[in-house]
Amino acid sequence: MQTHEIVRRFTDHFTAAGHTRVPSASLILDDPNLLFVNAGMVQFKPYFLGEVPAPYPTATSIQKCVRTGDIDEVGRTTRHNTFFQMAGNFSFGDYFKAGAIEHAWTLITDSFGFDPERLWATVYLDDDEAEQLWRRYLPAERIQRRSGKDNYWDMGVPGPGGPCSEIYYDRGPEHGRDGGPEADEDRYLEIWNLVFMQDVRGELSPKLGHPPIGRLPRPNIDTGMGVERVATLLQGVENVYETDLVRPVIARAEEFSGRRYGASTEDDVRFRVIADHARSGVMIIGDGVTPSNEGRGYVLRRLLRRIVRSARLLGVHEPVLGSFAEVVRDAMSPTYPELVTDFERISAVVRAEEEAFLQTLTAGSRIFDTAVAETKSAGATVLPGDRAFQLHDTYGFPIDLTLEMASEAGLDVDRERFTALMQEQRTRAKADAAKHKVGHGGDGSVYRALLDTHGAVDFLGYTELVAEATVIGLLVDGVPAPAAREGDAVEVVLDRTPFYAEAGGQQADTGELRGASFTVRVDDVQAPVAGLRVHRGTVTAGEVSLDAAVVAEVDRSRRLAISRAHTATHLVHAGVRGALGPSAAQAGSLNAPGRMRFDFTSPGGAVAPAALAEIEDEVNTVLQENREVEAYETSMDEARRLGAMMLFGEKYGDRVRVVDMGEYSRELCGGTHVGRTGEIGMVKVLSEASIGSGVRRVDALVGLDAFRFLSREHLLVSNLAEQLKARPEDIPERINSLVERLRTAERDLDKVRADAVLSSAGALAEGAEDVGGVALVAVAAPDGVGGNDLRALAADVRGRLGSRPGVVALFSSDGEKVAFVVATTAAARDAGLAAGKLIPAFAGAVGGRGGGKPDLAQGGGTDPSGVPAAVDALRAHLRAR
Ligand code: ALA
Repeated sequence: MQTHEIVRRFTDHFTAAGHTRVPSASLILDDPNLLFVNAGMVQFKPYFLGEVPAPYPTATSIQKCVRTGDIDEVGRTTRHNTFFQMAGNFSFGDYFKAGAIEHAWTLITDSFGFDPERLWATVYLDDDEAEQLWRRYLPAERIQRRSGKDNYWDMGVPGPGGPCSEIYYDRGPEHGRDGGPEADEDRYLEIWNLVFMQDVRGELSPKLGHPPIGRLPRPNIDTGMGVERVATLLQGVENVYETDLVRPVIARAEEFSGRRYGASTEDDVRFRVIADHARSGVMIIGDGVTPSNEGRGYVLRRLLRRIVRSARLLGVHEPVLGSFAEVVRDAMSPTYPELVTDFERISAVVRAEEEAFLQTLTAGSRIFDTAVAETKSAGATVLPGDRAFQLHDTYGFPIDLTLEMASEAGLDVDRERFTALMQEQRTRAKADAAKHKVGHGGDGSVYRALLDTHGAVDFLGYTELVAEATVIGLLVDGVPAPAAREGDAVEVVLDRTPFYAEAGGQQADTGELRGASFTVRVDDVQAPVAGLRVHRGTVTAGEVSLDAAVVAEVDRSRRLAISRAHTATHLVHAGVRGALGPSAAQAGSLNAPGRMRFDFTSPGGAVAPAALAEIEDEVNTVLQENREVEAYETSMDEARRLGAMMLFGEKYGDRVRVVDMGEYSRELCGGTHVGRTGEIGMVKVLSEASIGSGVRRVDALVGLDAFRFLSREHLLVSNLAEQLKARPEDIPERINSLVERLRTAERDLDKVRADAVLSSAGALAEGAEDVGGVALVAVAAPDGVGGNDLRALAADVRGRLGSRPGVVALFSSDGEKVAFVVATTAAARDAGLAAGKLIPAFAGAVGGRGGGKPDLAQGGGTDPSGVPAAVDALRAHLRAR
């Protein structure tokens, strides 16, 4: 049974039973605890917790999931996958254990046709109820009780959780030992996890025996069926990698490499890494992440680079990512049509990343070759661990590639040393991170506790900039406190607030919280857990305490400037997209007072200046049209139908906020905006540049800041025009010609100087004195002669002394230091006078030294006033010969 058919039957089964079909959420949900969505329940979390009433009593979804905890294990085993699809059914206070078990059982036995004789179930240690329910379908010996480690489920962080019951399929004795899942999880393959969501988990997990900290308002059901696992079984293949949606990537890798999957254990690992990572990589990019050096972007970068290097290790040296991405698109697009519509962007991202990485590999290979040569010439057979580490650390050269290439070169690698260095680095990095961790609220448990007690904080800031509120949380130095005094750095949580917390590129509001007898200056506002807004600042007067009433007031002009920038960003986004097509997708942004930054993927490289000017022109035209900026909430489906741009799925559940400027721009956005585009006044693009990996950045000024910038530039140009006596449009030409004339003048001057130097040579030679039969020219060189000129002059003077024994010593000085050159004629050298040997005779007088060949030597000293004494010393030396 094909994977798409499995998914279809699953969905049909539950919709027929009245469940609302909910599309997969983006892999990127706005949850600070999660890098990627890793289970079907994530998008429903607020419903389980009772923060938001569930819009439907039951639901079903096929959720794309990424788990990146075990990247290094992927491929080595056939069980680990970073990307998978979780089919789930959910009940929000509707049916509970009996309903969940019955639904699962009917679907897998009737619709999927699993042999009931081969099915097993596990239940949580003391869950007699679940055991009893299973007894309706299974004999007692095929129901096992397991501890929290296996049969308690939570998100790995505080939040909803509960005991669970898992369904296993017995693949038969050829796959392992008898004895059920407790004995062998390879033979007994887990296909479905039914979670009886009833608890609130605290800092410590009930998985490890710690009691939950509370009960959910109502018992719920959360289930997850591993689509790929079911496909493995129903397609009768060995493992996930051989299923219909994954195998094609391996096939493409086989074509590239000319090697066969299944022929060698080592190669198989590489094939599997490619197949797994290509899927997760493409899906992650599809949801708007671009490679970078932190967070999600870093995970993505690792995935993509591991593909490239696995391909290398399979002997493939040409670019592969674009081609793998195509295979993934073709396999996955029936379920995820956006992979087709967004493919140009996805493929641009992978190509750019691959190109960058291949350059790294090339640079690293050169260093590697040098290291190998050094090792061999030292007669050693082991490449030092320090070199392997340097390759890894400085050149991003993966260790397994180093190992592979070293073995090809007949060398071992000192892995122990390498590992030790890696460990050291990790320790350093950890210490560093700990140092930089903003102390506020420690591990976040304080914030979560506040959220649990008070629920989400109302945000009033779309319409209000001043509001009355009550202090519901107070932290001093990250620790809850009943009160805080003047001078204390505090974090204040209010029950409602007009302050915008930094998000989606929009900077946080600043302002003041005023009480009857205190004031808190707010410098920053953050949402450390979704739903909570924390005001960070300083108590500037009086004492603030829990439960105090405050007037919260946002710095109005700053906020308005930020809102103008944010609306401008949407317009620039629309303009860029209009000009470059849908492959130019937002990759990041900044909305600050008076300025904005917009990052986007650009497959075609730099945006031509003319195109950029057109975008700017168009954006400013939209400002002048003074369009209304509308913001409204709607369903995700409706937003999609309206064609709203959505990259980062930033909302839970089905309701999303759309910011709409008519057909020109329509985006999902939680930020604040102006009421009409005319309020922005003006947008001036300052620059467009690459920020790496196919991502470009536009910087622009907004509003009065844009005007002031232009006004300053105008003044500058007017001044220049006046000074140059040219019309503004002629300035570039005028400057070109000035620069050209300056260059010609400098060249002429050089020539004149050189001529003057050489013409002085005749006079110097004529002034030669006879010292004991040697013609001596020992003088300070004419002003301005130094360096090469000094040498040329000395040689010229020497030439003019003809066949006589002659010595030329010229000194030049800049007032602080002195340089000298000594030249001797052939006859002088025959008479035993070598230039280099003469230097010690006089150099001391100028506080210096030097040396050189018999015909020409030079040196320098630190005492220009000693030149006459040096000349005397040289003279005396020759005379005394
Ligand atoms: N949320 C449960 C899981 O991920 C179903 O296994």
